[in-house]
Amino acid sequence: MEKVKTGVKGLDEMLGGGFIKNRPYLIAGGPGIGKTILCVQFLMQGVEEGEGGLYIALEEQTEQLKEDMRVFEWDIDKIHIVETMQDVGSGTWTLSTSGIVSSPKFNLKNLMESLRDTINKHKPQRMVIDSLTSIKMLYDNKTDARREILGFMNFLLASGCTTLLTSEQLGEEILMEEFLSSGVVRLNAIENQGERITGVSIVKMRGSGFDKHMRPMKITDDGIQIFPNESVFSP
Ligand SMILES: Nc1ncnc2c1ncn2[C@@H]1O[C@H](COP(=O)(O)OP(=O)(O)O)[C@@H](O)[C@H]1O
Ligand SMILES: [Mg+2]
Repeated sequence: MEKVKTGVKGLDEMLGGGFIKNRPYLIAGGPGIGKTILCVQFLMQGVEEGEGGLYIALEEQTEQLKEDMRVFEWDIDKIHIVETMQDVGSGTWTLSTSGIVSSPKFNLKNLMESLRDTINKHKPQRMVIDSLTSIKMLYDNKTDARREILGFMNFLLASGCTTLLTSEQLGEEILMEEFLSSGVVRLNAIENQGERITGVSIVKMRGSGFDKHMRPMKITDDGIQIFPNESVFSP
C-alpha cells in the first residue's frame, strides 16, 4: 500500500512510513494543542513533493490562518486555502474568500457538492478539513450527524486525496468520527507532577501497523516535532 509522508518529524516513524494514500484521517485533540499546525505541515510536505494541497477553512479565516502560521516561515501561498460561507438564501455552502455564518439548515450534502467542484478544478493530492467539529455542530442529533459524517468519509475515500480532518476532543471523550475515519492521531496534553506535557498517540490505523505508545511532541519554529524513541513518562 502506498504511503504518504506526513512532513511531521517523528510521526512517519510512528506510522510505519506515513498515512495510507487516499484515505481520510482524524487529527483529534483539545484547543490550542497543534492540530492546525500539524495539518498545514502535512500540506507543506505535499508542496515539497510537488503535490497540490487544499485547505478547507471552516473555523479560521485565511488572514488569521496566515498570521498564525507566519512564525513557521512556510510558503503557505503554495497551498490553496478555501474559505466556506453559508449562503443563507439558498441554504447551501459557497466556497469563497469570506467569513462564516452559522445556520442549522446547512448540511454536509451541500458542502460536498461545492467541494466536488473545487476538487475537480484543483485536483489536489492532499486535503485538510479544519474542522469537522464545526460540521458536526450543524446536527442536533447524534444519529443524523453519524450518518452524514459516514457519507462524508465515503466521499473523501473516493476523492483521490489523502485527507486530514481535525476534531476537538477533551479528556477521555470518544468521538463518533473516530469510528468512521481510516485512522486517528490524538494530540494529548497531560499533567505530570505539575508540569503540562504534550504527547502524540495513534489510536487506530486501518490496514497498517503502528507505534502503540504515546510519544512526546513539541512545537518549535519548524512546526511540530515528535520524538518516536522517547517515552512521555521519563523514569
Ligand atoms: N513557534 C511556536 N513555538 C511553540 N509553540 C507555538 C509556536 N507557534 C504556535 N505555537 C503554539 O501552537 C498552539 C496553536 O496550535 P494550533 O495548531 O492552532 O492548535 P489547534 O488547531 O489544535 O487549536 C498554541 O498553543 C501556540 O502556543
Ligand atoms: Mg485549529
